[in-house]
Amino acid sequence: GEISFSSSSSSSHLLRRSYASESTPERKVAVLGAAGGIGQPLSLLMKLNPLVSNLALYDIAGTPGVAADVSHVNTRSEVAGYMGDEQLEQALTGSDVVIIPAGVPRKPGMTRDDLFNINAGIVKGLCTAIAKYCPNALVNMISNPVNSTVPIAAEVFKKAGTYDETKLFGVTMLDVVRAKTFYAGKANVNVADVNVPVVGGHAGITILPLFSQATPKANNLSDEHIVALTKRTQDGGTEVVEAKAGKGSATLSMAYAGALFADACLKGLNGVPDVVECAFVQSSITELPFFASKVKLGKNGVEKVFDLGPLSDYEKQGLEKLLPELKSSIEKGIKFANAN
Ligand code: NAD
Ligand code: LMR
Repeated sequence: GEISFSSSSSSSHLLRRSYASESTPERKVAVLGAAGGIGQPLSLLMKLNPLVSNLALYDIAGTPGVAADVSHVNTRSEVAGYMGDEQLEQALTGSDVVIIPAGVPRKPGMTRDDLFNINAGIVKGLCTAIAKYCPNALVNMISNPVNSTVPIAAEVFKKAGTYDETKLFGVTMLDVVRAKTFYAGKANVNVADVNVPVVGGHAGITILPLFSQATPKANNLSDEHIVALTKRTQDGGTEVVEAKAGKGSATLSMAYAGALFADACLKGLNGVPDVVECAFVQSSITELPFFASKVKLGKNGVEKVFDLGPLSDYEKQGLEKLLPELKSSIEKGIKFANAN
């Protein structure tokens, strides 16, 4: 009795363990800019993700402390901190997903494009290293201006001969998170049930929430409500920048959104079916080479880019208005990458 009980329980335990390790593969995630306002809470949230086995926290300073702190959380992943250029290779090598929140944030009165001069160079340097040390990783670009930093990354990877358009993402998840929150508040529906696609880019009017496709449907929303919800979503970043009054931009909600998007990438890599999120990717659904829309995430990254679906007249106008600005931000990134 006793022996067979213990042997059967230990063999089922072993079976469970081997099943668990087959269904949850080893995955390394690197966070570049891990000691920053986004980087720290994002590193914590990635430490809570059971899909991560190895978490590499890289910054130009401060990562030993962040890594020591986060490493004490009793979850699956091994955590290591890396600091400075000479440790970037080790941080990146073997990464499946690289999340980039490195770079300066806005202060009141600035546009995201005002960050270009500093952040373009930072992103270019980091992407050069990604091309060398983990060319197959999925890159989640958070650094602003996303409308330009993603094209910069693409150009750097092209020059290195490693570009794979299915592996490069501008993270626009925070726009989706905001649209869901604001819609739920106005439509009086449970926020946990809400879905709203947000397309275009990640700056001002290039952010185009498609409330006509929002679910659950709300019949209490007037055209004025939709205009107000659209503007609030487009200005969500500025709302936080002004409230922080010089102390930076969204960090906590961004960490949440970044962790959600990285989780979707990991699920896709692991073969979970039907993982669909909005992201700014190489695209042919409009005349522009990059565009945010719903994408299906799979074992190699982007598996399918969904087109925009039916738009309201107001959304059609928004789309026409955003194209020139988004086009020029994309071209600015491409030009920078090829000139420097
Ligand atoms: P922050 O200044 O608090 O942190 C940035 C971190 O990047 C710092 O720790 C800094 O040391 C590090 N860094 C600078 N150069 C680096 C390099 N070469 N390599 C590695 N790390 C480097 O800023 P933050 O509030 O965390 O914002 C970071 C970026 O994210 C900004 O560009 C901001 O505009 C952007 N952002 C994007 C979204 C989005 O929705 N995509 C949302 C919020 C913020
Ligand atoms: C955001 O949307 O919160 C970020 O892009 C940061 C910013 O500058 O607004």
